[in-house]
Amino acid sequence: MRTVWLEHDADFEGWRAGARSALMAGIRLEDIEFSVRGQTGTLFSDASDISPPEGKKLIVPMDFMPLAKRAICHTDRERFRLLYDLLARLQRDRSLLKNRADPLVHRVNVLAKEVARDKHKMTAFVRFRLVEGSEPEHYVAWFEPSHFSLDYTAPFFKRRFTGMRWSIITPYRAAHWDGKALSFGPGASKRDVPEEDHLEDYWRTYYAHIFNPARVKLKAMQAEMPKKYWKNLPEAPLIAPLTKASEARTQDMLANAPLLPVSQPEPSISTSSPSTLADLKTQLGTCEACQLCHGATQAVPGEGPASASIMLVGEQPGDHEDLAGRPFVGPAGGILNDALVEAGLERRQLYITNAVKHFKYTMRGKRRLHQRPETTEVEACRWWLDQEIELVRPTVIVALGATAQRALTGASTPIAKARNRLMPLPSGALLQTTYHPSAILRVPDHTAKAEMFSNLVEDLVSASATLQQHAAAV
Ligand code: URA
Repeated sequence: MRTVWLEHDADFEGWRAGARSALMAGIRLEDIEFSVRGQTGTLFSDASDISPPEGKKLIVPMDFMPLAKRAICHTDRERFRLLYDLLARLQRDRSLLKNRADPLVHRVNVLAKEVARDKHKMTAFVRFRLVEGSEPEHYVAWFEPSHFSLDYTAPFFKRRFTGMRWSIITPYRAAHWDGKALSFGPGASKRDVPEEDHLEDYWRTYYAHIFNPARVKLKAMQAEMPKKYWKNLPEAPLIAPLTKASEARTQDMLANAPLLPVSQPEPSISTSSPSTLADLKTQLGTCEACQLCHGATQAVPGEGPASASIMLVGEQPGDHEDLAGRPFVGPAGGILNDALVEAGLERRQLYITNAVKHFKYTMRGKRRLHQRPETTEVEACRWWLDQEIELVRPTVIVALGATAQRALTGASTPIAKARNRLMPLPSGALLQTTYHPSAILRVPDHTAKAEMFSNLVEDLVSASATLQQHAAAV
């Protein structure tokens, strides 16, 4: 029996190095154990001296790494061995991960999903407090995650609060950002975090301001923001009084509503605004606002509930979508679906559409190859997108790629830059920009591909966290 020693509860790098050498040296599952230093001691010999045979290669499918990185953060004691078992089986069947009915694949996916949900909660409920007298200013947050999700979630905070010096302290581990580097240290207790500061007042004012009484759905709110997290939220004391007052405030808002919309969208298509998504679909079927309708099989409308709080906007339907009449059902849809699962989002609760509703392509032999739509085509289709936004009224819109970003904002900011900031749109929705799933498919380099995929997941998590923060009542 051999022991692989790990430095902490979510030590993915340690696990990876140990599992790699052990697998290549042919060590069976029943002959290996993984232990976190300082927690459990064994009399078994250290596995760090294992030297794998020269030239032997391990098969690590692209989707294994992001899955394992999440699953390893779970509190399930078996996680290290489950992942070892999975990696060993992948050597014999490299497409094993596609088989969701396999009990091991299923179990690891459940662990990963629970960690994604935990990350999601952390991104929404961490509240930083200023350390009194700190120079330069240092912000500290206390959080009790349900899993060992800090390592997995800290890069999100690094992106969101790059200009701030901060620490997130959990009972098992702490993350620190000094403006240049992210580091980790031992956990601590709530006593190490300042109790109150002026930010608390700021946050309460902000929360009262964004609280939309017309959108109160208490059950959904409690499901998303379990009481467990309330004790650390400065706005928590406001929830009950604001909720109580919401009925009166709704009436007030209705009574004082302007009689005319502030700005009317300019119809560029000679048809009246649809009053439902079903009407929109019927009307869209006859659209001839640009020449793309002539080559496409059909117009592809968005799909999803009119009550969706998050809308995803892609570029245009591809070959598969053109034939099926539904958005994101081809290879790009496969990537999107995987990313949604990892982000803990349910596709059926989202509204998914495209900036352009007809497939633009060029023939290469018998194949129809995607062509990027021209600005004029995006503009011709803009009216439909506006109608969808008007009917769905999402709180958050996610632009998947440059065409969607341009259609929604009129600007073309590099995605790597645009994804780091939220942008308010005229409809009142907040825009989160991210990579298009097809861009991920096109990246040849394995590592860069995995990185881009995890950025997509992170941006979807971020969209969901924004939704909870800005419409905690939805
Ligand atoms: N790419 C898109 O932008 N949209 C789809 O629906 C499919 C692929």
